[in-house]
Amino acid sequence: MGKVSKSFIYFFGALGGILFGYDTGVISGAILFIQKQLSLNTWQQGWIVSGVLFGAIFGAAIIGPLADKVGRRLLVLVAAIIFFIGAIGCGLAPEFWSLLLFRFILGIAVGGASTLVPMYLSEVAPAEMRGSLSSLNQLMIMSGILLAYITNYSWQGMYHGWRVMLAAAAVPALILFIGALFLPESPRFLVKVGKIDQARGVLGQLRTADKVEEELADIEKQAQVKSGGFKELFSKYVRPALVIGVGLAIFQQIMGCNTVLYYAPTIFTDIGFGVSAALLAHIGIGVANVIVTIVAVLIMDKVNRKVMLVVGAIGMALSLFTLGIAMAYSQNSMSAAWIAAIALTVYICFFSATWGPVMWVMIGEVFPLNIRGLGVGFSGCVNWIANMLVSLTFPTLLASLGTEKLFIGYGVFCLLAVWFVKSGVFETRGKTLEEIEDHLHAVSVKE
Ligand code: BGC
Repeated sequence: MGKVSKSFIYFFGALGGILFGYDTGVISGAILFIQKQLSLNTWQQGWIVSGVLFGAIFGAAIIGPLADKVGRRLLVLVAAIIFFIGAIGCGLAPEFWSLLLFRFILGIAVGGASTLVPMYLSEVAPAEMRGSLSSLNQLMIMSGILLAYITNYSWQGMYHGWRVMLAAAAVPALILFIGALFLPESPRFLVKVGKIDQARGVLGQLRTADKVEEELADIEKQAQVKSGGFKELFSKYVRPALVIGVGLAIFQQIMGCNTVLYYAPTIFTDIGFGVSAALLAHIGIGVANVIVTIVAVLIMDKVNRKVMLVVGAIGMALSLFTLGIAMAYSQNSMSAAWIAAIALTVYICFFSATWGPVMWVMIGEVFPLNIRGLGVGFSGCVNWIANMLVSLTFPTLLASLGTEKLFIGYGVFCLLAVWFVKSGVFETRGKTLEEIEDHLHAVSVKE
């Protein structure tokens, strides 16, 4: 296979994120039409929406151990094929059960990509740019979500529009497959399976000549440790990494981000806007998210990850409290509706600039090489379970508690997240993956 440029590797390494974003974002608009044409009851609608989340739990769970066995690159190709089959299958599905099956299949690829992409990016990136390059994943997710909102808006007038909305994901899936054919394997995986010369070749593509041998020697040293399983994952030495992986994964979801991303139009109509204003506001949120994610990519290697997490959680908490107070005293006034809409947008921007990218970046870098796939997969799986629980309980909680109490509740979780970051997370910015691993060793010896 011919050599490709660094930007090609980073772009196609991150592209799986677009499908993650598109396939999770598209359903919010498509379901309005699917429900009518396939005569779905509310229970069936819920399943079509969360079918992808359910599949993603499995995808994230199986991808880690597989990535440690067969490598990262082959799995990107397999994920692209599953994305393609899932998209076409959803577009053609004649009734509820087949649609659910293909949404589940899509979910396997979404969950797989959600952990594979940051893992691959963090392993090919040089330490000083690892944060920015790994957060390209989040930029792709956000771009995928925005693309989905725009597709939804454009095809809403057509009877079979929802089929186009769902099947359109086959195009980026095909592009991902073709691009991934030219991607090199991660140098860290190559060393792990003893292909030192190939690893040297890949590092030569990615680093200046003077850096290659030094980094290779570091990777070889760490790779001598035998691949581990769940016993190692739960061992004392890996525990600080596991606490970070699982803790960040849970907090990222229970702070409520996806309630806004999945249900923003519903929330906007609830607080007093008309339907088409709500759909347009949704696109506005999508654009704002892409812009702040670009800012996050640019600052990721200049600002400590912990600072980003703390500032993000405080900003999210304050926006949610403002939203709650505005709703509580609104008496259905339009000015309160505006304050609430602005607070919601500020909240989601804080998320997209901080917790969105930082969580995936950090779970890609904290685990030692000999169980990285397992650790990242496990944390990703926990993130999808938390995502599904929050998304499934949201409509019921909204109906029983009301917007103000519910969002103040998510705000309290944001404050708890500040405490968690301050007490349970160590800094990773600027360190090589091997230095992070040495830190884990040092901590376990000290205890
Ligand atoms: C989160 C997803 C979310 C996406 C878009 C990701 O970092 O894990 O749950 O849907 O960002 O905001």
